[in-house]
Amino acid sequence: MTKSLFINKKIKSFNKTITVDADKSLSIRWVLLASQATGKSKANNLLMSEDVLAAIDAIKKLGIKVKLNKDYCEIYGNGINGFKYKKNLIINARNSGTLGRLILGLLIKSPEKIKLIGDNSLSKRDFSRITTPLKKFGAKFYYKTKNKLPLLISGAKSTKGIHYLENKGSAQCKSSVMLAALNASGTTTIKAKKSRNHSELLFKYLKIPIKIKKNKKYDLISIRKPKKIKAFNYQVPGDISSSAFFVVLTTLTENSKLLIKNVNINSSRTGAIKILKKMGAKILFKNKRNYKGEKISDILIKSSNKLKAINCPPELNSSAIDEFLIIFLIAARSRGVSYFKEISELNQKESPRLNWGSKILNMMGVKTELTKDSIKIYGQPNLKIKNPIIIKNYLKDHRVFMMSTIAALTCGGQWKIDNKDSINTSFPSFLKIIKEINSK
Ligand code: S3P
Repeated sequence: MTKSLFINKKIKSFNKTITVDADKSLSIRWVLLASQATGKSKANNLLMSEDVLAAIDAIKKLGIKVKLNKDYCEIYGNGINGFKYKKNLIINARNSGTLGRLILGLLIKSPEKIKLIGDNSLSKRDFSRITTPLKKFGAKFYYKTKNKLPLLISGAKSTKGIHYLENKGSAQCKSSVMLAALNASGTTTIKAKKSRNHSELLFKYLKIPIKIKKNKKYDLISIRKPKKIKAFNYQVPGDISSSAFFVVLTTLTENSKLLIKNVNINSSRTGAIKILKKMGAKILFKNKRNYKGEKISDILIKSSNKLKAINCPPELNSSAIDEFLIIFLIAARSRGVSYFKEISELNQKESPRLNWGSKILNMMGVKTELTKDSIKIYGQPNLKIKNPIIIKNYLKDHRVFMMSTIAALTCGGQWKIDNKDSINTSFPSFLKIIKEINSK
């Protein structure tokens, strides 16, 4: 049992500058790609969260040397498919869907069977979405419980490029197939519904032969097997998904202002910002710059007391996929009825997040209409929480914890939120930053 957080007071007005923890998607991708490069790669400001540490542990078990310091991480890659390991290897992806799915792409030629396990939350999530395309490369999979972890992967002796249609808008599926393509002779082509494109940008930066044709809804990606990948250094920027909690905290706190420094604002990740601006939030990108293909900026947020409901355009869903819980909180405090649709993927996350979002709003006294893939939220700009709220048994989903904390700090009421430690998955400094903001 980990500790609970108790909140019974709103946060006071503030005017502060902060940095948030580093981007999780980029940190995991750096670890995995550095493991396939030849020679020493170095990252500064790598996210030191459990998901990333699980990725480091995984490549270490696969025979890759890693030096981890307080300020930087060095990975000594053995080249593509250069893993060296003993029989009966077990890799534990813990809570990380990104690690669990992406690493399988790197193992499609593993000569020995490898077992992939995860924690209670990850063991409830679907893996057929990734084993189905990886089987096309010739890899074999054995499940104990259909489509769920634990699973065994047995690699193919030789592999050829495949054609793959990714139609969920899942960057994890797309990226796993992209990593598999590093091991496959010939060309792999992917028709992928829009999703975050960090893997594509890193492949380009690393000069891995990749072509991308962008259509309105889909990207056509083709990848040829590279001879080798050069070792590379990377300075990881702040995570927009972590920033989003503070964007909402500021928006909903009277007379407040916050500057978040050095955040990745790749447009495949900024759906939440677009949605919140349409709802009346005051958010500005300042000091925009480019870094190795990514866009980085400071984010300035001011409180807003004129929030209005949204009929959210589904084209924004994939670029806001990790931010819906916190967007729902803004909807709960907006004038009118907000409508979010085609979001069934939310129930495939670390917890069934669409259901949890609705449940938490209901506990707060906000009316919702929930279906399998949509939610209507009846906003109450002057919401007063009447009953004490206890948030528990939510599979320790880090984003459920953080959304509940921001709800408590901005809407008032008496809250007990279980599993403080859940933040270590993606944003270990979350509570420390709240303390900083709340201090004089
Ligand atoms: C991620 C992709 C998204 C997201 C997850 C990180 C990634 O998952 O929810 O937190 O780094 O590729 P899906 O690909 O399942 O949508």
